[in-house]
Amino acid sequence: MCSTMLYDMNETRSIILYTWVLLFVVLLSSCHKEDIRLKWDVKKKGEQRTLVMGDDNKVNYTAYEKVHYVSWIQDSAYQYMNIYVPHNLREENPPIFLKTYTAGYMASKAKAPMANDATGYALSEGYVVCVVGSRGWNSTVRGVYNGRAPEAILDLKAAVRYLHSNDSIMPGDANRIIASGSSAGGALVSLLGASANHKDYDILMELTGAAEGRDDVWAVVSYSPITNLENSDMAYEWQFCSTNETRGLSERQAYLSSQLAAMFPAYMETEGVSEEEMEQWMSNSIMSSAYRAEREGQVIPLETGVNIADSVVDMRQFVHYIAGVQPLKTPPAFDALNVVNNRGTFENKIFGNMDGKDANYTEFSMANQLDGSKELGDDIKWKVRLMNPMNYIGSSSHLCKHWYIRYGTLDRDSSFPIVLLMEHKLKKQGVDINFALQWGEVHNGDYKLSELFDWLSKIEDIQ
Ligand code: DHB
Repeated sequence: MCSTMLYDMNETRSIILYTWVLLFVVLLSSCHKEDIRLKWDVKKKGEQRTLVMGDDNKVNYTAYEKVHYVSWIQDSAYQYMNIYVPHNLREENPPIFLKTYTAGYMASKAKAPMANDATGYALSEGYVVCVVGSRGWNSTVRGVYNGRAPEAILDLKAAVRYLHSNDSIMPGDANRIIASGSSAGGALVSLLGASANHKDYDILMELTGAAEGRDDVWAVVSYSPITNLENSDMAYEWQFCSTNETRGLSERQAYLSSQLAAMFPAYMETEGVSEEEMEQWMSNSIMSSAYRAEREGQVIPLETGVNIADSVVDMRQFVHYIAGVQPLKTPPAFDALNVVNNRGTFENKIFGNMDGKDANYTEFSMANQLDGSKELGDDIKWKVRLMNPMNYIGSSSHLCKHWYIRYGTLDRDSSFPIVLLMEHKLKKQGVDINFALQWGEVHNGDYKLSELFDWLSKIEDIQ
């Protein structure tokens, strides 16, 4: 009997202990969900400001700055966003215009709205504006490079998650986030729109200290995206190799160019696109751009290779024309071979390591290293995958529904096939896409803003 009592007492103690442990775990996990550091402070006092627009129109707004969107801040210089709420809202709970100033895959600060770019325009149109800072290849704390790939996209996703998880208590409608950026920023917002809520990022997001939940956006505005990095060297040479004789290449560079150009059709095949189709799309897009420019009063010079009267474009002449405006990059244009001594490109840096060393990230450049061929590590392959929207368009169930993509006809920082392949892949998914090559535009962003905001005001109705 005694032993039974002892047994009962032991059992009771175990049950009590178990209950406490359970309660502790539940409490801990609910703390994690309700992490106070990731909660919008409804008492946060905004600052009253006025933005003077180019036409002297004054926009009054409230500024809430330094909103940290991760619970574990690795770099306080960049990992926060600023929220700006115009007094004259376009509707009670308007869309949120989210802007990244990322350029060159570098770290980027969350700035205040500017009258001459999309942030000022959005504010004056009554959108809530959110400018997100994020880490990049050059962000360092105590000598550690903390922003190498894929950290920049994790930061942007974390900011979006913060907006979603605080939607009911924050200004603006997180179900209608418009993510906008140019160049490397255009690439990052494209990735944001393509890879939303994808499980590939889950563990990394947790380690970054992001809020749990959704990171999907409603619209992507991408100017001049430097994207699809692992296929960009091939695309570049495929487009530009006809200019090689005037490009001042060494014998070895000319050899690399011809090798890369020859490899590109096989990649296009994997996307279901033939060389002939791509050539046709390039001509069509350039012609549409020229027609549009002509309708707007511009003269299209014959030396560009575009003949409006005959509706033809001589592509060879056209790429020579681009190369004449600004010298082309040398092959390989993105994954350079001289990464020792950190003389690599922005791309070699973003895939570099935390000690600050540049790295190669394609099989081709790795194999053609001057100091002997090496294999690409699985870790680099994984990072490359995480940075490319092409890997997620069609594989994420939360593909962004509205896309606005612009690329200049004189842009030589990347190539036409890269943006056209992305457009093609998005089109196949049936999303709403407003794509155009902008006549006479070099590598640039935030142009023709009235056109962008006209489009945005229309998509508000579709949802
Ligand atoms: C940018 C430009 C480049 O030519 C490049 O390779 C990467 C990024 C930029 O302007 O962001």
